Amino acid sequence: MVGSASAVEGYGTMRRYSRHLITHADHPIAAPLHGDSFRAVLAAAMNHSGGGKRLLDLGCGQAMWPLTALTGWEGSFAVGVDTAADSLEWARAEASRLGVADRLTLHEADAARFAAEEPEEPFDVVLCVGATHAFGGLLSTLAAASRQLAPGGCVVVGEGFWEREPGPDVLDALGAVPGDYTDLGTTVDRVTAADWEPVYAHTSTRDEWDEYEWCWTGSLARWALDHPDHPHAGEARETAAAHRAAWLHGYRGTLGFVTMVLRDAR
Ligand SMILES: C[S@@+](CC[C@H](N)C(=O)[O-])C[C@H]1O[C@@H](n2cnc3c(N)ncnc32)[C@H](O)[C@@H]1O
Repeated sequence: MVGSASAVEGYGTMRRYSRHLITHADHPIAAPLHGDSFRAVLAAAMNHSGGGKRLLDLGCGQAMWPLTALTGWEGSFAVGVDTAADSLEWARAEASRLGVADRLTLHEADAARFAAEEPEEPFDVVLCVGATHAFGGLLSTLAAASRQLAPGGCVVVGEGFWEREPGPDVLDALGAVPGDYTDLGTTVDRVTAADWEPVYAHTSTRDEWDEYEWCWTGSLARWALDHPDHPHAGEARETAAAHRAAWLHGYRGTLGFVTMVLRDAR
């Protein structure tokens, strides 16, 4: 399990139907990383970003990256941007519980629009994990992040790649086209060709993917069974089943995920 349980359990068991919060009740980091790899990536960025501690998370979800930075790095300050109001509400409650609410600012906004604005003060770490689609892809995400980045800072980008060539079933299951991703080597080549240098990275393992997907589908199915008379119970159970089938009969072993810590080499 990843993350803190107390605030999470409230949403996993409550009657209100908030699909995103229920699917991430057991795994609030919305990416296939175990706690250890998540902390290693964050430490690589925070400890090697010019000594500063200002962090921006574009597409922050429940803000687990900022929250963990704020609790682990004294004097750090974080900004999170996401369009999902319920995820931000969860993050605010969790920030209060952890006693870091005064160092976290959350914006309900489109990340690309937010990043297009000149920052009042640039950030030492800019994250975009699992949300590059909001910028139109990997390289446009890096271009947007660089506008927010202080000299010597790090960008953390989490992106999918093809572990092997996807067949039509996989593409169908993901609603993807082959050009959405490349293989891992080509993904890194694209990044370095744009003058970004990977200074650390983590490639999600099969185990991390499995835990992530079992948590996602399991907590949603559990919620449906626990609230059989809820108007969304049927939909929740069907969504869990459809997602599980898309994963197990589709993209498991084909879709990979890499989280890179990058320095601007220009
Ligand atoms: C896969 S989740 C990753 C969340 C978070 N980065 C993490 O690692 O836990 C993708 C997030 O991007 C957000 N998102 C999608 N499109 C967005 C947009 N245009 N602007 C801001 N956030 C967006 C979603 O609401 C969701 O919270």
